Amino acid sequence: MKFYLATAFYCLSLTSTNAFSAVAPNAAKTASSVDPVDKSMTSLPKETDAFDPTAGENAALQRNNKNEVWVPQRARPRRNRKSPAMRGMVRENIVTPSNFIYPLFIHDEDFNQPIPSMPGCERHSLDSMLREVGESYALGVKTFVLFPKVPDELKTNMGVEAYNPEGIVPRAVRMIKAAYPDTIVCTDVALDPYSDQGHDGVVEDGKILNDVTIHQLCKQAVCQARAGADVVAPSDMMDGRVKAIRDALDAEGFTDVSILSYTAKYASAYYGPFRDALDSHPGFGDKKTYQQDPANGREALIEAALDAAEGADMLMVKPGMPYLDVIRRLKDYSPLPIAAYHVSGEYAMIKAACEKGWLNEKDVVLETLMCFKRAGADIILTYYAKQAAQWMKDDGLN
Ligand code: PBG
Repeated sequence: MKFYLATAFYCLSLTSTNAFSAVAPNAAKTASSVDPVDKSMTSLPKETDAFDPTAGENAALQRNNKNEVWVPQRARPRRNRKSPAMRGMVRENIVTPSNFIYPLFIHDEDFNQPIPSMPGCERHSLDSMLREVGESYALGVKTFVLFPKVPDELKTNMGVEAYNPEGIVPRAVRMIKAAYPDTIVCTDVALDPYSDQGHDGVVEDGKILNDVTIHQLCKQAVCQARAGADVVAPSDMMDGRVKAIRDALDAEGFTDVSILSYTAKYASAYYGPFRDALDSHPGFGDKKTYQQDPANGREALIEAALDAAEGADMLMVKPGMPYLDVIRRLKDYSPLPIAAYHVSGEYAMIKAACEKGWLNEKDVVLETLMCFKRAGADIILTYYAKQAAQWMKDDGLN
């Protein structure tokens, strides 16, 4: 926390200094000491041959009853921006900590491991994870999603560790639900943390097998539900997995466990830091045979139609910022809640720019989260969840 705040203040002072010197190098006066402006504009020094916007037959500006220069314009959108209270009254969107899902990296060690490409994030021990959940909950962040770093010796092509009831995720879910029963705990459904191939599914001859993978995902989802997961979030992009997982959960009596589907998950270069965090880079090739082509927007509607028909409760777009158009398309298309994943690479970009003093971290993060809302996201998964909630509290917003 100290680190974040120090960075924020550092960035703030740098940004304002730069802006001041770049925009108004000689402006020694404060706003209140500026001389009143003669709005007739007649006391300006007269240059010869100078253009007068109020003169001539096609004058750009007119004069009002007080001889002040006047743009005869009735609609003035600035009226709705004239004060903080006015802006607050007409504001179309609002982001609150209850909109956030906070992703947490966990591992089976008794220390925390910083993630170099995600400054401020770490792989938590389970005790530390529980503290982080408690502190976030106190700030109004009530929903979490868990991502495990699994030791290499537990990784196999079939990803069987994914449904070990004593595996790290089921244990973590039980711990959180025992200590904070009112939280919403989401679990990731995909094989990549457990795969010795570094893929989201079972591999054969360099191919990622669809239906065999879904068999494993059903076992994984039921295992997570048995541990107490409130929401399972399939991030694998296999065809037909939402229906199969829904049926598997229902058959085991988990009709109340929700499915947050990664509906439009793109084969993106923005996941690099996440794969560093979990040591889950693909062992060969890429994920382009199952994740969507970044060139395609309409294709997301096919995925959305299938997921909705198969029983998804919420639809997710991933990554976030470069895919705001996809968020908007899904929002216009489906009445289901829409989630946006502000992914690891997006987090890393903001962190890096702020460390250099090039952006004001607090302002740019709160703006980014608001933009997800405006684009149509009801839910925002972000590594900034706890920090943003803290900033909102500091500003009296939650
Ligand atoms: C894998 C998974 C990934 C992310 C969430 N789940 C990476 C991938 O698809 O390779 C990325 C999240 C991030 O970058 O923050 N099932």
